[in-house]
Amino acid sequence: MTSPHPEWKPGSKITTPFSDVTGVDLAELSQKERYKFLIGAIVPRPIAFVSTISRDGVVNVAPFSFFSGVSSSPPSVVFSVGTPPDGREKDTLANIKETQEFVVNSANEWMIEPVVHCAGDFLKEINEMEEAGLTPAPSTRVSPPRVAESAMQMECKLTQTVSLGDGGPGSSTLVIGEIVYAHIASDCYEKGRIDFSKYRTVGRLGGLSYGLIGETFTLAVPKVSE
Ligand SMILES: Cc1cc2nc3c(=O)[nH]c(=O)nc-3n(C[C@H](O)[C@H](O)[C@H](O)COP(=O)(O)O)c2cc1C
Repeated sequence: MTSPHPEWKPGSKITTPFSDVTGVDLAELSQKERYKFLIGAIVPRPIAFVSTISRDGVVNVAPFSFFSGVSSSPPSVVFSVGTPPDGREKDTLANIKETQEFVVNSANEWMIEPVVHCAGDFLKEINEMEEAGLTPAPSTRVSPPRVAESAMQMECKLTQTVSLGDGGPGSSTLVIGEIVYAHIASDCYEKGRIDFSKYRTVGRLGGLSYGLIGETFTLAVPKVSE
């Protein structure tokens, strides 16, 4: 498909479908309302399905959609672990602090139900991969297992954590990790390119909504001469 407005020329004005704007002072919203605003406004978000292992050897896996790739040298990802209303530390963060390692597994269309199931508040002693019926696969360079059903897995070592907020509900810890090894389904990977039509990752939207990649188009960045 061509881009939505191929007739657009640099400098030409565009018309938006909206005529009115509501100002939102996030400081005046409750923490819950702020969270709802953020997850509704920043869409779609990719989902990191993060597997970790505790010092005692219990495997944990949970989805995180405040997630992105942030550097290619060193290859790095970041995701954010929020403090829940009861103030407890999520198992994923506790395990990463213990072992300094984690795996980011892709959340693909064929496995989204078990991915979301793993967001349940299971006890730390529960092996969530087993609980969801997912298959652990040994990692190459880190101790947490990969999720075999995921089309892609990135083995990561903790670079640093960054705390945001006062540690109360809604405050967060950013987990930055360096990818030390990766795996990708061969069918999705050709000549160094990942084919997103086969890869089929799911995006998280606001509320309980999710989206698949729909219509796509290509659009080149202009070459600006000096
Ligand atoms: C699709 C999806 C995305 C989520 N994203 C986040 C997130 O970015 N940060 C977060 O703290 N929790 C997020 N959650 C909630 C966690 O997955 C949930 O709190 C989970 O129980 C944490 O597991 P753990 O205690 O085993 O680490 C998300 C849940 C779902 C279903």
